[in-house]
Amino acid sequence: MDDNIRGCKRHCYYYSRTSGRTLTLVSLALFVLSMLCFCVANSAAFNLAAVPFDEAYRPLFGDGNLVRSPDGKAVRLLLDRFTGSGFISSSLYQHGFFSANIKLPSDYTAGVCVAFYTSNGDVFEKTHDELDFEFLGNVEGKPWRFQTNLYGNGSTSRGREERSRLWFDPTKEFHRYSILWTPNNIIFYIDEVPIREIVRSDEMGGDFPSKPMSLYATIWDASTWATNGGKYKVNYKYAPFVAEFKDLVLEGCPVNPIQEVPAFVACAEKDLSLQREDYAVITPVRRSAMRKFRQHYMYYSYCYDTLRYPVPPPECVIIPSEKRRFKDTGRLKFGGSHRRQSRRRSRSPVISVSDDQSDM
Ligand SMILES: *[C@@H]1O[C@H](CO)[C@@H](O)[C@H](O)[C@H]1NC(C)=O
Repeated sequence: MDDNIRGCKRHCYYYSRTSGRTLTLVSLALFVLSMLCFCVANSAAFNLAAVPFDEAYRPLFGDGNLVRSPDGKAVRLLLDRFTGSGFISSSLYQHGFFSANIKLPSDYTAGVCVAFYTSNGDVFEKTHDELDFEFLGNVEGKPWRFQTNLYGNGSTSRGREERSRLWFDPTKEFHRYSILWTPNNIIFYIDEVPIREIVRSDEMGGDFPSKPMSLYATIWDASTWATNGGKYKVNYKYAPFVAEFKDLVLEGCPVNPIQEVPAFVACAEKDLSLQREDYAVITPVRRSAMRKFRQHYMYYSYCYDTLRYPVPPPECVIIPSEKRRFKDTGRLKFGGSHRRQSRRRSRSPVISVSDDQSDM
């Protein structure tokens, strides 16, 4: 594991040393270009109806560190030296659009993990489904990174991580992060830019999430595993760390996981209306924005990690330009295990972050 991590750092260092200046100019140009494209894609905002916090969510842990706004439309999750905090939707949903405006904690946030995800791990321990946005804390001045991932039917040995940087500073203002989950596809959005789509294929089998899930949002101390030799522990000198969530949107089919009528019957109509929503369709303009995002900001995808998956998993759409880009990075080493520590106690998502923050 260590060798691989060092190997990656060496590689990146070499890369930036040899082509640093050209890279800077080129990326600046690309950045301007891509901002233009994102703005086009962003011009038509989704028409969304926000739900007041108490109508659809409840505290999950660290209640004292969950602070509602007076109007009930926003909530702050705090992490201090005593506890993190989190909330969960009051219902489970069979498919849906899960979305929030989020502002991440600023300044020095190394070791802090903010997660916005759907899961049913508390209901189906061995066969859980999950869709993740996971934001990793940050040494001040470095760009934030985040990861998306999915599991279906307990496929925890087959992680499907993708990692990217953002085209903005997520601590400066609110941005909308959304997860769309329909019977046929999954789309992760940031604002109105689709950043990842997974189209269900028969070959995926149970790996495509299929059982009702709750929405979770958490902030917690990820020092124990975010650390490489204790380098990125949470520094409580900077506490409390505050993640803000507002304009929460939850469009989906609420179900009881043990109800008699199977969810796919009970939710058939709701599924159809979900699939007719604006955000369920990736228009050509959005697709082009997605391609640009992935070209410029994504720095790891399991689909191109040939060491981990000699044959890409069935849902992978190999795009030649992406593949070329990943050919020499090949693998940003995740190291260690993808296995999650038990969430039963911490109720927190676990991601491995041994490709640490200094390697880019
Ligand atoms: C999910 O996993 C369980 C237990 O491993 C298995 O029996 C079941 O067939 C799987 N379901 C699907 C849809 O793959």
